[in-house]
Amino acid sequence: MQFKTIIEPFKIKVIEPIRITTEEERIKYLEEASYNLFSLKSDQVLIDFLTDSGTSAMSDNQWAGLMLGDESYAGSKSWDRMKESIHALTGYPFIFPTHQGRAAERIVYGKLGAKGKVFISNTHFDTTRANIEVTGAEAFDIPIPEAKETSVLHPFKGNMDIEKLESLITKHGKENIGAVILTVTNNSSGGQPVSMDNAKQISKICKKNGVVFILDCCRIAENSYFIKHREDGFENTTYFEIAQQMFSLADGCIMSAKKDAIVNMGGFFAFKDKDFADKCRETLIITEGYITYGGLSGRDMETIATGLHEVFDPDYLHYRISSTAYLGKKLHEMGVPVMLPIGGHAVYVDAKKLYSHIPPESYPGQALACDLYIKGGIRSCEIGSVMSGHNDAEGNFVCAPMELVRLAIPRRVYTQSHVEYVIEVFEKILEEHEKATGLEIIEAPRFLRHFTAKFRKLPVLTEV
Ligand code: F0G
Repeated sequence: MQFKTIIEPFKIKVIEPIRITTEEERIKYLEEASYNLFSLKSDQVLIDFLTDSGTSAMSDNQWAGLMLGDESYAGSKSWDRMKESIHALTGYPFIFPTHQGRAAERIVYGKLGAKGKVFISNTHFDTTRANIEVTGAEAFDIPIPEAKETSVLHPFKGNMDIEKLESLITKHGKENIGAVILTVTNNSSGGQPVSMDNAKQISKICKKNGVVFILDCCRIAENSYFIKHREDGFENTTYFEIAQQMFSLADGCIMSAKKDAIVNMGGFFAFKDKDFADKCRETLIITEGYITYGGLSGRDMETIATGLHEVFDPDYLHYRISSTAYLGKKLHEMGVPVMLPIGGHAVYVDAKKLYSHIPPESYPGQALACDLYIKGGIRSCEIGSVMSGHNDAEGNFVCAPMELVRLAIPRRVYTQSHVEYVIEVFEKILEEHEKATGLEIIEAPRFLRHFTAKFRKLPVLTEV
């Protein structure tokens, strides 16, 4: 018999207390943080949906692995375990550890990027784009058109636009393409999955043109779940085999292990090509560490090896995707505009629709993120014009294609009652949404401004 309640497929062995705060306290904390949720202290937060990155709860097996960590500078047994688990999954022969995803990005895109080079992705994650642009190269996002409409249903809304890929390669010349990067799932575009068929088409085009094809694979297990349940022909293929198949289509991968390896720190990159691997090895040693630890401690590498295995457990993946969908579905039914269908690691609220009276230049996403914090102590993340809006050469404001607020769900951390609480907070947000006001940026750095920008709350509603 099938029950409608999907239980967490784990028991709690260790707990971390949450400090309960009042709305008055949170108003003060947010003001002190200059309305930037990254500046809050974690004990000022009740439900931390800022990110699913590095915030997972490890299993008893992973914790046990900490004692097995081999901290030898060279030739660590823990590295052998980590390398073997990555090799089994990706099939790639040249594998390098890094302390997190962006360290791998800096090394790999630092080699492939330069002024005049062009990178193409379904959507570059913000650190990916920054690591590319810092080399002087250009980064183009070409998700399928459906991806920009939050209410449009599409089983693989994370797909890359194949026609645009071909025309961009032709326009810029295949010799100028730094790499084609497929982000699975497509984090900055709603956590939406990418189909195997799309990956196959990209692989074919890249091969035909001699262009490097890289998988940004930090949520590869979640993506495999969607393929098994939404794409024809995968009913009898395991999640692990689906992932293996996707890796076989690319030339290499970059992974932030802080997501689907269910650990708190770590990353790696892996490639098929020896010459390219040789170039990266040198930089790895100079900037991250020796090739058998790359900035990680032996115990970190143990937990990654175990996590990469655990994440493909069918009970875990079913619970993971279903519990994210539960939150998204409930919010949708209440009338909260959310990105549909619900993605794998997060629910994305469409702040442009919910706070339609706040124009993009007054950051409706940031306004909603602030209100969620004040009302319920929920920390979320704006993925809109704060993150990717900018001024053009004439000084005109160019807004982001969407104004989203991401509720990213840490793996194995929150229970059903936490989720019910979040739903209740949204009831309050809906009741008062017309009173919401926008913000202005009063201080911001040049790159990745969302992390450290300071804001001022606008006192009155800004008319559209
Ligand atoms: N690629 C993707 C698709 C990501 O989502 C991230 C991180 C990275 C690369 C960089 O990895 O953080 O280990 O350096 N995403 C986090 C997030 C930060 O909140 O989505 P990292």
